[in-house]
Amino acid sequence: MKVGDRHFRSLWADAPRARVHIIDQTRLPYAFETRALSTLEETAEAIRAMRVRGAPLIGVAAAFGVALALERDNSDAGLKRAVATLKATRPTAVNLAWALGRVEQKLLALKPLKRTEAAWTEAQAIADEDVALNEAIGRHGAKLIEKLYLKLKRPVNVLTHCNAGWIATVDWGTVTAPLYMAHDQKVPVHVWVDETRPRNQGLLTAWELASHGVPHTLITDNAGGHLMQRGQVDLVLVGADRVTRHGDVCNKIGTYLKALAAQANGIPFYACVPTPTIDWSITDALAQIPIEERAPEEVRIVRGLDVHGVPSEVAIASPATPVANPAFDVTPAEFVTGLITEKGVFKASERDLIVLWPKSHRDQ
Ligand code: MRU
Repeated sequence: MKVGDRHFRSLWADAPRARVHIIDQTRLPYAFETRALSTLEETAEAIRAMRVRGAPLIGVAAAFGVALALERDNSDAGLKRAVATLKATRPTAVNLAWALGRVEQKLLALKPLKRTEAAWTEAQAIADEDVALNEAIGRHGAKLIEKLYLKLKRPVNVLTHCNAGWIATVDWGTVTAPLYMAHDQKVPVHVWVDETRPRNQGLLTAWELASHGVPHTLITDNAGGHLMQRGQVDLVLVGADRVTRHGDVCNKIGTYLKALAAQANGIPFYACVPTPTIDWSITDALAQIPIEERAPEEVRIVRGLDVHGVPSEVAIASPATPVANPAFDVTPAEFVTGLITEKGVFKASERDLIVLWPKSHRDQ
């Protein structure tokens, strides 16, 4: 997507085989800074610290992390160490394990001397595929928004939670692709952007939408139900970190509450889901999906700019206050109207999703 007059992907590699560049998302929306990653450790730190974040993007970053690691050690042990280090960075989004599993399987079948080149090629393939997946989700989602517009004959009000934007993927974004495409096709759309405490990913969504000229309004996390009751929300679109074969959606903490409010108010609630985000092995979302518990400081300390525009941090709770900071929750399928995937829109049910099962899974 464009930043100023330059087109960026959220992550790209120096040709040939040197470094990987990211947009440091801990600096957004206040500063747009890129950062170069040259080692496995730097890549793992970038994922852990959420310099790169969003389910699809951390998968892609991890794949490139393996390539960087193999530049130094292409042995079986080196490969396994790289995969284990990267897998341990964040537990919830399945895209991380999915991308690492794909790369590991491919590389273990090769002789060490052939591995490094192949790792770069595979990481780049995953990145390019991600762009195509998001673009396809955008086409299906934009049709849904257009349909609503033709029915309502006024701008469509979409509520979104967190950031499932182009910076959370390689390009386009899962939720923002439909919004960008609808907007570009002159379908009038306005987006309610949940702030998404404590990491405030909504600020990233607002930054993205502003850069693309999409009308939007930032709201507190508690405002959604109120707006829904008053008919000010026509559609909820959220991303996903892991979706089960039954269509349960694990996404950023607070998503579940929005789904409850949407159902109570008869508002369609869709998750935008590239198929690598579906974990076919999970049968019980609440019991089996590991929910990341993040540092208490994220809740106790608010970051932003002071009145002079200088980056600052403010403690809003005593360091002694006990804090819980679960980063994700599960929205059961019964609250999900549908899943917008690259292959079309599906009901959130095993019966409907079965056609998407990968061959490897069917053979098990
Ligand atoms: O903790 P984050 O910022 O990595 O969480 C991101 C989300 O929950 C997104 O909604 C999800 O990963 C989908 S991104 C296309």
